[in-house]
Amino acid sequence: MLRDPPENPRTKPNANPSTTPLAAALADLRTNYNSAELTEALAYVDPLQQFAQWLSEAIAAQLPEPNAMTLATVGSNLRPSTRVVLIKGYDALGIVWYTNYDSRKGQELAGNPYAALQFHWVELERTVRIEGTVEKISAQDSDAYYASRPLGSRLGAWASPQSQVVASREVLAREMTALEQRYPAAASTGPPRPPHWGGYRLKPDAWQFWQGRPNRLHDRLRYALQANGTWLRERLAP
Ligand SMILES: Cc1cc2nc3c(=O)[nH]c(=O)nc-3n(C[C@H](O)[C@H](O)[C@H](O)COP(=O)(O)O)c2cc1C
Repeated sequence: MLRDPPENPRTKPNANPSTTPLAAALADLRTNYNSAELTEALAYVDPLQQFAQWLSEAIAAQLPEPNAMTLATVGSNLRPSTRVVLIKGYDALGIVWYTNYDSRKGQELAGNPYAALQFHWVELERTVRIEGTVEKISAQDSDAYYASRPLGSRLGAWASPQSQVVASREVLAREMTALEQRYPAAASTGPPRPPHWGGYRLKPDAWQFWQGRPNRLHDRLRYALQANGTWLRERLAP
């Protein structure tokens, strides 16, 4: 007796995804936040200090990748795009991360220097949003950070034409093997920093700190940079 082959669940379209058990579970998935509060009395007047406090608490709480932040940029076609990058430094000048200058984000920043960052520290029921203008950091600072990275990461920056289409994973692996032969771990000099790789700094002109609270009445404090250089702090409705 001939039987129909079993249907492949990976290729079978679902007639109505909104009726699946997953959709029902999603509709019921909600957290009531009640672990902390962010009042005007508790918050710093300077948003950088508030950020330093929350980042250090995220690190102390041993959250997974507390240094991961979503970076939003906008292309010349006015479409926003996001990706995760790692914060590598912050001070009064701004927030620093490293990447490929020719990547999609690099090209979008070259055409439009406005960007936004967001941290989401799930276990602490906190987010921080930061907006501002972005510039490349100095070549010397990029050199210094590049030199501090493990050899594999330094070679990877050469091997990967970030955001470009590659024919296969093997193409990248072959490139990496060739680089490993050219710059063996035992050699005294490593690869120079690729000219297309380095740091960016976002200089904030707006910050927002969100602390989850019960019944969706979350705390939100926004800090906006004023013409005289001070920060205007206001509470936003959740
Ligand atoms: C936790 C995490 C950290 C990452 N850190 C970086 C980073 O510091 N720099 C970077 O260029 N890409 C980083 N990536 C990869 C980016 O998310 C992204 O895939 C890449 O930068 C290409 O983005 P683009 O094509 O939009 O330019 C990270 C990804 C994750 C998940």
